[in-house]
Amino acid sequence: MIEHNFPSLKNDRILKAARGEPVDRIPVWVMRQAGRYLPEFQEIRAQHDFFTVCQTPELACQVTLQPIERFDLDASIIFSDILVIPQAMGLKVEMAPGVGPVLPQPLVDPNDLSRLIQPNVNEALKYVGDAITLTRHKLNGRVPLIGFTGAPWTLMGYMIQGGGSSTMAKARSWLYKYPEDTHKLLQMITDVIVDYLVMQVKAGAQLLQVFESNGNYLDDALFTNYSFKYLKQISERVRKQLKEANIPEVPMIAFPKGATMNSLKILAMDQSYEVIGLDWTVDPIEARKQLGANVTLQGNMDPCAMYSSQDEIIARAQKMVSNFGKTRYIGNLGHGILPDTPISSMEAFIKGMHSA
Ligand code: CP3
Repeated sequence: MIEHNFPSLKNDRILKAARGEPVDRIPVWVMRQAGRYLPEFQEIRAQHDFFTVCQTPELACQVTLQPIERFDLDASIIFSDILVIPQAMGLKVEMAPGVGPVLPQPLVDPNDLSRLIQPNVNEALKYVGDAITLTRHKLNGRVPLIGFTGAPWTLMGYMIQGGGSSTMAKARSWLYKYPEDTHKLLQMITDVIVDYLVMQVKAGAQLLQVFESNGNYLDDALFTNYSFKYLKQISERVRKQLKEANIPEVPMIAFPKGATMNSLKILAMDQSYEVIGLDWTVDPIEARKQLGANVTLQGNMDPCAMYSSQDEIIARAQKMVSNFGKTRYIGNLGHGILPDTPISSMEAFIKGMHSA
């Protein structure tokens, strides 16, 4: 085991909630909390390109700490992006201003799989590990640090579409046209993800979240075959590798955004993830009923509800806690915070969660 001598942890609420232990107040963090809605982030972005920030541990650390310095949050998440994996596999990824990620040479058909490389993650993505280690020291034990990755199907979507898409039609067509090559691609991505998550824990990540942001494009059969199968494999292999390296396991969060209730059930019953993230379309009371008592739920206020009045945001947060219940619950939004969200809304949301 690598000895980092990290400062001891002062706030472990999110770890307790993930493991199903009682907490004195609801732990809260916000997806995309280190980002564009913060003026201090804008200042850094005005001077540096997006991926330069990701690749420079001092900058990534600084941006990760920005929301922690401003707000009473119970977790931090390392500043990076899910698309560093396609990059490490040899695809060019650019962050186009006002557009989002662009992959100018996407995978068109299975012949293009030969363009992908199986990187040595410890070298190609070392900068993420270094950012994590540095951030653990700078956090000084204030809150745990979350590491993350995109899930295979979500990354495959970007690799084939060449960027965001409202239909994912090209990527979904692969599932029917090239099922075998789809599995080959998903397996290649999965192998990279497993090494990447293990590296993040070795570097100091105390929780891991897997973003299946494109879960909404799959019916239950497709979810089972192309998403769940690999999510389960990721969890099992990461835990096994950590055990073999004599490193304590960390809780894992799966966020299958837009997955159907049946798909969520498949994931919950399997128990390969301690925590399931829910988007805002899922009813908290129904989710509790359907997903059983052995999983922690995370979420799920509509990011757009952050545009209501502060009093309303506080009331919504409190209502959410009473609907989810105070055990096995982690407060969050149902997707990433939007770029022009008022800072005062973040304060109200956290206040509401903590006062519930
Ligand atoms: O949560 C955090 O604060 C940590 C950093 C983080 C970023 N991206 C930084 C970022 C995390 C966890 C992500 C995950 C991510 N990236 C996901 C999964 C979560 C989700 O939203 O579903 C996805 C799909 C991506 C891909 C991506 N990166 C998109 C679609 C975009 C453009 C839209 C957007 O949200 O800005 C990005 C760019 C990006 N990633 C920015 C940030 C701060 C803004 C880029 C900029 O500064 O110009």
